[in-house]
Amino acid sequence: MKPRKQKTNNNAIKLYFFFTWILLLVYLFVNAPPPLPTGDQESPGKQISSYQLFELVQHENAVVRKLWTQKIVGAGKKLGLKFSEDWEEPDVEAGPLPALFLRATASRLEKNKVPLSLFLGSDAPINQANEFDARQTEKFQKIKQDQQPQLFYSEDIERYTGMFPDIASVEACVKCHNDHKESPKKDWKILDVMGATTWLYPKAQLSLEEALEVIKVLRAQFRAVYESYLKKAEAFSKPPQVGEKWPDEGSYLPSSDVFMAVFEKEASNYTMNRLFEMLGQDG
Ligand code: HEC
Repeated sequence: MKPRKQKTNNNAIKLYFFFTWILLLVYLFVNAPPPLPTGDQESPGKQISSYQLFELVQHENAVVRKLWTQKIVGAGKKLGLKFSEDWEEPDVEAGPLPALFLRATASRLEKNKVPLSLFLGSDAPINQANEFDARQTEKFQKIKQDQQPQLFYSEDIERYTGMFPDIASVEACVKCHNDHKESPKKDWKILDVMGATTWLYPKAQLSLEEALEVIKVLRAQFRAVYESYLKKAEAFSKPPQVGEKWPDEGSYLPSSDVFMAVFEKEASNYTMNRLFEMLGQDG
């Protein structure tokens, strides 16, 4: 009797597993989640265009440039701090000119995983590396006429491109460029369009996550460039004290946290609001 009973039990267990297995399969098929939408389908998730991204990063860059130019370079010069082209030379006690703050940001950005590129270009540049290519030069002629940004796709470099006018807003721009020995143009005038802040990105669209990542990475480069200046300033013969205060209060430089906090306060409101507006737009 005993072995036979064992057998019945075994069969019952097998049957039990068989039905459980069938139930599981039925469950999986019936409840299988629908396939994830691909980019071409109707609801790809919230996206912004690369042109909208350029608008956001252009604003971020304009805020940091103004902060650097006015609160560090402008106020710092009155204290006797120097800002020059060769600031990276080890024996030069100086910080980057505004155009070089941007260049340092751009070259750090290039080494990063985010495929956004930036440069301050011109059709009459001091530095040949800042010269526009043929397509950009053509678009720059329009910018000089109407001072409006140009947004277009460059087939040759396979990049979406955004060019934003860079205007001689103060006499110092004109004077320094006209006097510079490497400048091919000596008759810049106030309010001339001297160049264009130019952004490149390989894709037409970005997800919200990608856009936020780009902004995060860009801000990290602003911080890194500022920190490289602080490191340099530490070794000056009369180093300013680094902390809460700014050069307009005396021989001080804000720490990178303080610098970035003021930057973020200025920049974030616009960036947030524009992002909400962009994501709210249909299509
Ligand atoms: C003290 C000198 C100085 C001042 C002031 C200055 N620049 Fe420049 N600028 C330079 C130098 C030097 C470069 C080249 C930097 C490089 O090597 O990329 C440059 C680069 C540029 C470029 C990129 C094209 C080029 O010439 O290489 C533009 C555009 C530009 N500056 C516009 C401006 C504007 C607008 C202002 C004022 C808001 C200004 N600059 C103020 C010295 C100056």
